[in-house]
Amino acid sequence: MIKVLFICLGNICRSPMAEAVFRDIVKEKGVEDKFVIDSAGLGDWHIGNPPHQGTRAKLDELNISYQGQKARQMQANDVNDFDYVIAMDQQNMDDLSQFSHQTSDVTVKKLMDFVNQPKEQNVPDPYFTKNFDYTYELVKEGCEQLFDYVSNKHDLGTK
Ligand code: 4NP
Repeated sequence: MIKVLFICLGNICRSPMAEAVFRDIVKEKGVEDKFVIDSAGLGDWHIGNPPHQGTRAKLDELNISYQGQKARQMQANDVNDFDYVIAMDQQNMDDLSQFSHQTSDVTVKKLMDFVNQPKEQNVPDPYFTKNFDYTYELVKEGCEQLFDYVSNKHDLGTK
């Protein structure tokens, strides 16, 4: 199993969007059985809540499922349990540095690190910008290129 965890601050806007979009890509490629996909937030404000209305509206528009997704807070053990911990911005990366992962070979990177010539280094937070369309554009590009990276690395037999 390849275990991928998307991280943002609140786990209601960006990382649940990335979780749903990445799951949609994986499903479309027919390799669902090879992945565990999840998301979590660094903060605890929204634990148990569904994705933000703006994220839900965008995913509904595109017919991408977010069924069953509920916010949870990142746990120290997540860096041992997951192979990829994918952050949305540099602030997330700084916050993640508190979780030691010396004993695991987890890859901790920003989603935009997987994009060739990215428009942004960080995925803007639509909780503040209100621009869920632009965030989706970046998340989609990031998830597609993350999938290509992972599928090359693990030889999923999709090519
Ligand atoms: P997210 O956006 O990190 O993309 O889920 C946020 C959602 C809520 C808050 C901050 C960011 N908040 O401060 O409640």
